[in-house]
Amino acid sequence: MKRIKINRLTGYDTSPGKVLIKGWVRTRRDAKGFSFMEINDGSCLNNIQVVAGSELANYTDIQGITTGSAVAVAGDLVASPGKGQKWEIQADTVEIISLAPETYPLQKKRHSDEFLRTIAHLRPRTNKYGAAFRIRSEMVHAVHRFYREKGFFYLTSPVITGSDCEGAGEMFRVTSLDPDAVLKQGKMDFSQDFFGQESNLTVSGQLSAEMFALALGDVYTFGPTFRAENSNTSRHVAEFWMLEPEMAFCDLSGNMDHGEELVKYLVNHALTACTDDLDLFTKFVDKNLAGRLKTLSEKTFERMSYTEAIGILEKSHKKFTYEVSYGTDLQSEHERFLAEEYVKKPVFLFDYPKEIKPFYMRINDDDKTVAAVDLLVPGIGELIGGSQREERLDVLESRMAQMKMPKEPYWWYLDSRRYGSVPHSGFGLGFERFLMMVTGISNIRDVIPFPRTPGSIDF
Ligand code: 4AD
Ligand code: MG
Repeated sequence: MKRIKINRLTGYDTSPGKVLIKGWVRTRRDAKGFSFMEINDGSCLNNIQVVAGSELANYTDIQGITTGSAVAVAGDLVASPGKGQKWEIQADTVEIISLAPETYPLQKKRHSDEFLRTIAHLRPRTNKYGAAFRIRSEMVHAVHRFYREKGFFYLTSPVITGSDCEGAGEMFRVTSLDPDAVLKQGKMDFSQDFFGQESNLTVSGQLSAEMFALALGDVYTFGPTFRAENSNTSRHVAEFWMLEPEMAFCDLSGNMDHGEELVKYLVNHALTACTDDLDLFTKFVDKNLAGRLKTLSEKTFERMSYTEAIGILEKSHKKFTYEVSYGTDLQSEHERFLAEEYVKKPVFLFDYPKEIKPFYMRINDDDKTVAAVDLLVPGIGELIGGSQREERLDVLESRMAQMKMPKEPYWWYLDSRRYGSVPHSGFGLGFERFLMMVTGISNIRDVIPFPRTPGSIDF
């Protein structure tokens, strides 16, 4: 008999007949002559009800089935006379694959996110996290589909890198040296290390993506990124996924157009492909979710310069913890004010003072600002950070000299500006922050399967 997943049982093409399902028992109760079980197989939010009659050979064992147990049920799929479900299965056989002890931690009540984080190996069995991680998977597929449709090439950029690419964040060192031996020697000799030089986990695939954009045209990287920042906030993790498109022959305004198109495409895809799971979040996690997703999908994103934004913040007369003044980086309280209270929708901020931005961003004609862009989103803050890149070799070299950066490790990057350099742009979208936005989940630890944060690397 063919095994069937529960998410296939809700479609119009479902017809009565013999089926086999395999899954985990959510609840079981006894009635006269019957045992009723709710089974979930992870394929969707819905359970299927199984009716096991006392004529079954292992009925006594069935009556001992506990919450969390794994079973295989074969039987007739029939229209359910009960309320709240379309189909049920009248079991011919119930095979107990494994019986969960009474200590199974997920009982029929709501558990706190904090508690579920301590059993991250079991939390995907809950409705909320099952839904979150199905949406996560669906969004990954949508990213690749979007770029495939647009003719972008997927680049897998290296996870281990030899240069502090761009100073985007604190880095994790990669080494194969024995720490005890290093201690005995009194110092680290990188020439003895695996790669013969310092190496780290990547903080961004951008510089690799630039090299390929200048050959293949439009590319994107999408993979794990690492930052050793010691910030214990609800929006930072040490390992996260970043989506980084890089486009040749594209300026800053084209970069913003692309970011807006991407976000809208992904949100619209979630709205059509993940309806049941999203309804759950609207009901139990964030009452305003549906409205916020509609805004994201329908409203044109705002665009304003950093200078304009500073003016607005100064005139707002709001009490901020950190003062605002031209030339300082915006704090998240400022970003949230602009997106949540001022424009009340996503807003691109562009043209930041060059002093607070990395060397590779293109110097504007005013010689004061660079063609940087951040996308700020209500409830999330910074979702996207990017720029038009400095494509002029002489300008890039003098900027690096001003910033006292050594040229030697970047010889290959500079070479790309020597041979057929063109204007190009790109950005990084924090995939977990995007998932927070789509689900309304307020802590980044709860949209990543196994979160890594300062002092915590369980599982
Ligand atoms: O703004 P960031 O640092 O940009 C870059 O790394 C550029 N090199 C990207 C590029 O132009 N190709 O990071 C991009 C995004 C942020 O806007 C944020 O959404 C996310 O990555 N991000 C984090 N997400 C979770 N935890 C952290 N510690 C994050 N740091 C950045
Ligand atoms: Mg940033």
